[in-house]
Amino acid sequence: MLIDIAQKCLQLIGPESAHDLTLHGLKNTANTPVEWFYRQSLPSKPVSVMGITFPNPVGLAAGLDKDGEAIDAFHSMGFGHIEVGTVTPRPQPGNPKPRLFRIREKNAIINRMGFNNLGVNNLVTNLKAKESTAIVGVNIGKNRDTALENGISDYIQCMREVYKYANYIAVNISSPNTPGLRSLQYGSLLDKLLETLKLVQIELADQTNRYVPLALKIAPDLDKNEIISIAKVVTRHNFDGVIATNTTLRRNDVEGLQHSNESGGLSGGPLLKSANEVLDCLRQSLNPSIPIIAVGGIMSVADAEKKFAIGADLVQIYTGFVYKGPRLIKDIVLSI
Ligand SMILES: Cc1cc2nc3c(=O)[nH]c(=O)nc-3n(C[C@H](O)[C@H](O)[C@H](O)COP(=O)(O)O)c2cc1C
Repeated sequence: MLIDIAQKCLQLIGPESAHDLTLHGLKNTANTPVEWFYRQSLPSKPVSVMGITFPNPVGLAAGLDKDGEAIDAFHSMGFGHIEVGTVTPRPQPGNPKPRLFRIREKNAIINRMGFNNLGVNNLVTNLKAKESTAIVGVNIGKNRDTALENGISDYIQCMREVYKYANYIAVNISSPNTPGLRSLQYGSLLDKLLETLKLVQIELADQTNRYVPLALKIAPDLDKNEIISIAKVVTRHNFDGVIATNTTLRRNDVEGLQHSNESGGLSGGPLLKSANEVLDCLRQSLNPSIPIIAVGGIMSVADAEKKFAIGADLVQIYTGFVYKGPRLIKDIVLSI
């Protein structure tokens, strides 16, 4: 398959250049005859989660298409949903380069991108231009230079801007590359955030006559008690879903390998075990009616099957897609 060859070539150039080149190519070829090269017709495997009917349960995880530039292209590859973002109210450049590293031996990536994105207004323009029926989740965050105590207002601003154009909204409090962000996962900060966003959701649902579910994205670096506390707050505020997990700060499975000492979040193969432990604990402590979108370390059909067996309602991939290409979507969908 030509797409497999293209994907192997991309492994030969620097990771961020490969990413930019791919996104640029996809953006410019979506809805043109060139789309034929990566289009995959997959059988319909509909699943209803958070009140949305997804054509299949395999989605693209946040961070790959932060500005929503290639939604139609990812849709044509067969993704059942595309999570764009993380988007922040104002554009920001992210951390200095280099900030993206491959650890090939382990099918892993370390990134410290730092929410580089063109801001929420630009994303809305791209969401309005979407031509396909792709189901889109919008992952929202706060600007780096917004003080943590004002962080809630950044989430509210993003939520208000994207509400009309999103199928669901993911509240990202778990990226390791925005200082202090993960502290929103605990205690009164979490309680206040979820309470406020639920009120805004009710107001916007009323205004627009459309209920857009809210999902909370959490880190893998949480102990059992912390996961149980999060589950209680999510249940109490009737949040619509949880996305587990983001990248990890742990390095146990990659020690000694090139780039393993780079700071940032680790994703891919070495994340699978801890992401599954969080998924398991979360599934047991969360109200059974609240769905979980499972992400972290899916490199094969068996990895996805394991997540469904533990209790995932949907799965997402990022690093597996980088190393294995669109074929991984197809293989998982066909196996369900
Ligand atoms: C380069 C890169 C950038 C990412 N950016 C974001 C982001 O902006 N927001 C977010 O919620 N997650 C982000 N993630 C995390 C992924 O969405 C996903 O949760 C994580 O990579 C684990 O899945 P995986 O093992 O399939 O990659 C990023 C991951 C990578 C590798």
